[in-house]
Amino acid sequence: MNSNINFCDLSIPETSEERIWGKAKELVAGNGYILGSEVNQFEDAFAQYCETKHSVGVATGCDALLWAMEALGIGKGDEVITVANTFIGTVLPILRVGATPILVDCDPSTTNRSPSSGCGYYPKNSCHRACSSLWQTGTDG
Ligand SMILES: Cc1ncc(COP(=O)(O)O)c(C=O)c1O
Repeated sequence: MNSNINFCDLSIPETSEERIWGKAKELVAGNGYILGSEVNQFEDAFAQYCETKHSVGVATGCDALLWAMEALGIGKGDEVITVANTFIGTVLPILRVGATPILVDCDPSTTNRSPSSGCGYYPKNSCHRACSSLWQTGTDG
């Protein structure tokens, strides 16, 4: 499949516009976007999609990374590997938990971290607990 996606296209297809804006207005009017039933429904559906028991919606990508690292007990003295082509929102939560970000190079063909292409970094004397990336899943891990 070959499809072109514009870099920043925020337009909504005409056929979906009324449905999307209608739901957005409903959510804002009912404060449903913060701890509302719609959030619970999304969390349940996402957990099911991921074939896991639970899913927790958070406000930002930084929150997601921060809380995931806290849940894993990552902190001072730990190193967290992430890709050099990420942006500061990935590195800030790593610093916030007191860990050291390790930026590794990427495979030019996938733009993902790829240990098989010689871009891997594994700290000595530590176990590999987390790699941070909110997007471009595939070869990371
Ligand atoms: C790779 C990566 N890390 C971290 C973030 C942080 O997300 P936010 O700006 O929602 O905190 C983003 C957001 O796009 C991201 O793409």
